[in-house]
Amino acid sequence: MRPSSPHVMKVGLVGLGVMGWPIAANLASAGKLSYVANRTQSKAREFATTFKVEALEMRELAAESDVVITMLSDDSAVRDFVRSVLAYLKGKILVDMSTISPSLSIQLAEEVRGAGGVMYDAPVVGTSIFAQQRKLVVLLGGPEEKRELVEDLLKHTASAVVYFGGNGSGLYSKLVNNLMVGTYVAALAEAFNLGVKAGLSKEQVERILTQLSSVRSPTSELKAPKLRTEDYSTQFATKHMRKDLEIVQGEAQRLGLFVPMSSLALQLYRLAEASGMAERDFSSIYEIYKKSK
Ligand SMILES: NC(=O)c1ccc[n+]([C@@H]2O[C@H](COP(=O)([O-])OP(=O)(O)OC[C@H]3O[C@@H](n4cnc5c(N)ncnc54)[C@H](OP(=O)(O)O)[C@@H]3O)[C@@H](O)[C@H]2O)c1
Repeated sequence: MRPSSPHVMKVGLVGLGVMGWPIAANLASAGKLSYVANRTQSKAREFATTFKVEALEMRELAAESDVVITMLSDDSAVRDFVRSVLAYLKGKILVDMSTISPSLSIQLAEEVRGAGGVMYDAPVVGTSIFAQQRKLVVLLGGPEEKRELVEDLLKHTASAVVYFGGNGSGLYSKLVNNLMVGTYVAALAEAFNLGVKAGLSKEQVERILTQLSSVRSPTSELKAPKLRTEDYSTQFATKHMRKDLEIVQGEAQRLGLFVPMSSLALQLYRLAEASGMAERDFSSIYEIYKKSK
């Protein structure tokens, strides 16, 4: 009699958007991905054909996978998906890489635990370009029990996986980062506008922000050239930055904190969104400033 073959861990990924696609591509190239699913199913079929994995319907994917990775847009997308597949998560690992409210993630982790599974929050620092180059940094939160397995898996798409503690701590770390990035890019656009309107050339202002300023940073290197060229091709959409700063506001309210800097930046991103920039890069906030005299 042939010995039965050992069970090979099956990994499925739901959400083939700007971030989910390259993450799934990295996992597939490493031979770690079996299934993909996406709300718009044609994307999943296209991915499956390109990377030789199987495209399934979302619930089917949850039923077939040992590890389910989600990379979805926001709270409602993740909440709806997780609650629709709870029945399939007994003995499974759910790794949510989306940026959503930590409070919601903690609540969902309890529900997954109740269903016999274990959940991790694993939001990422870095854009789709970082994802393509496997240079994302994953901020991991969740129980110790499957931590090593999750870290080993995510290392196929990230340069670092940093563990912060229990459920929600990956997402709180992500909020710390995005509060800074959101307010910083708003200030960058404000400073850029001041310099140009005062008569400096765009190249001079860019040089100050990327080379001479004591607050130059990887973000100013990435975004100042976009302000100079007014190239708002999307690295991170305005609607997502608006969403993240709304999450900051919600969590701050819950914690009884005041967050005036990010609150003001949020209003500006809302204005940018209302001016038709929702899908454009969030550096398009510069357009709001350009209109000022
Ligand atoms: N882009 C970045 O640079 C970046 C960086 C760090 C973190 N993030 C975070 O990563 C997450 C994904 O970002 P992204 O840029 O990849 O977003 P995206 O391109 O808009 O992709 C969103 C994905 O979620 C799916 N989706 C949206 N609503 C859904 C719903 N109600 N039910 C089921 N599926 C739904 C979309 O499906 P369809 O294809 O059918 O629309 C798509 O697969 C966000 O939380 C974002 O804040 C993004």
